[in-house]
Amino acid sequence: METINDFNFPGLPKIVFGAGTFSGLPEIIHSYGRHALIVIGGESLVKSGRWNVLAKQLNQTGLQYKAVSVWGEPTTKTIDAIASEFRKTPVNVVVAIGGGSVIDYGKAIAAMLAEDGTLRDYLEGVGTKKPSGAKVPFIAVPTTAGTGSEATKNAVVCDRKEGYKKSLRHDAYMPDAALVDPELTLTMPRLLTISCGLDAVSQLIESYTSTKADASLDSLALKALSGASEGLLPLCLDRGNDISLRGKMSYAALVSGITLSRAGLGAVHGIAGPLGGLFPVPHGVACGKLLFPVMTFVVKKIIDEKNLVAQKRFADIGRLLTDDAGSEDILCRKTQISKTKCIEICKSNNPAASGGYNNEDYTRGCKQFLDVLNKWTRTLKLPQLSYFGMTAADMAKAISLSDSKNSPAILSKEEMKVILEIIR
Ligand SMILES: [Fe+2]
Repeated sequence: METINDFNFPGLPKIVFGAGTFSGLPEIIHSYGRHALIVIGGESLVKSGRWNVLAKQLNQTGLQYKAVSVWGEPTTKTIDAIASEFRKTPVNVVVAIGGGSVIDYGKAIAAMLAEDGTLRDYLEGVGTKKPSGAKVPFIAVPTTAGTGSEATKNAVVCDRKEGYKKSLRHDAYMPDAALVDPELTLTMPRLLTISCGLDAVSQLIESYTSTKADASLDSLALKALSGASEGLLPLCLDRGNDISLRGKMSYAALVSGITLSRAGLGAVHGIAGPLGGLFPVPHGVACGKLLFPVMTFVVKKIIDEKNLVAQKRFADIGRLLTDDAGSEDILCRKTQISKTKCIEICKSNNPAASGGYNNEDYTRGCKQFLDVLNKWTRTLKLPQLSYFGMTAADMAKAISLSDSKNSPAILSKEEMKVILEIIR
């Protein structure tokens, strides 16, 4: 039987969620002061006309702002340069509007405006200094639905020369506010919708099945996964303009940030991190490619190891994603008795079962889980990793740097090699 693990619940950002909420951004910025540094990425915000509208609104409210554009994944060099330039000017609030990388840029800049020296000194596993947690208030505005960085306390920084992706992390780095407007994701191209969507899904699955999972996150993760499973395929196939489905994916991404911050992640991210440090594969693509093969190994292991607690968690997801109400409902339908009475009978007939489940249900649920992932993988067809420049040398190095994080099954280096050969 599952126990309720100990947990503590550090703060979340002030969250404003909903289609059209972007128009309220100037008011939120204003609540932190009159001097804002706004970090934006690429050109999509400008091309969509939203930047001009926002700039006009900011001017009307009397806010003083400076905007910086960033490209690609966050690097120590760029963050140090921006922080060094803006330490000399008053900045009451940093705002990042963009995908996960732009938000990580903003998060790291907000922190480094309040720290001395170079960002490299504070990176986990790289630097020697601990971040103090001091920072300039930070507002995250995602324009993609994927990383959930709007609700995490770390910024991922990449140095491809040294071959790493490492985090700047502190509880205080959780954004002060997250404005999540699904309308901003309507212009996401198909490949980005797929890769970001699979990143969010893998984060929800890995945090729900993590050895650090706790009861306070369960219903959040399952509800978000349910929405993602409704939205992912139609959005990627033929309903990209459906704002209701975009809302489900934005919600899934937001919740995945909340759950991963608390419960951690598993082997998909334990391998995707090093891959992204070694060659320019988008994080969501790496996660999407790894998801099915990694989960196949993990599920096989937890069944072989008779890890019933983990099996139940994967079975929960399998039943949810296939709308399978389980043996109780089948029995209820067959016998035409009430569900409550049916669960009572199930439990009394099988005292070892938790909530009416039995071991056969677990195995069946795990299989349903893998069947759904297999179907998604076959339908969404992400490119192989060699398309992004992965070489045999990258593969060997990635394996040496990878781990299984908080996965309920630890993958061996040999198993990781098999997985990478499949997706290379
Ligand atoms: Fe991720």
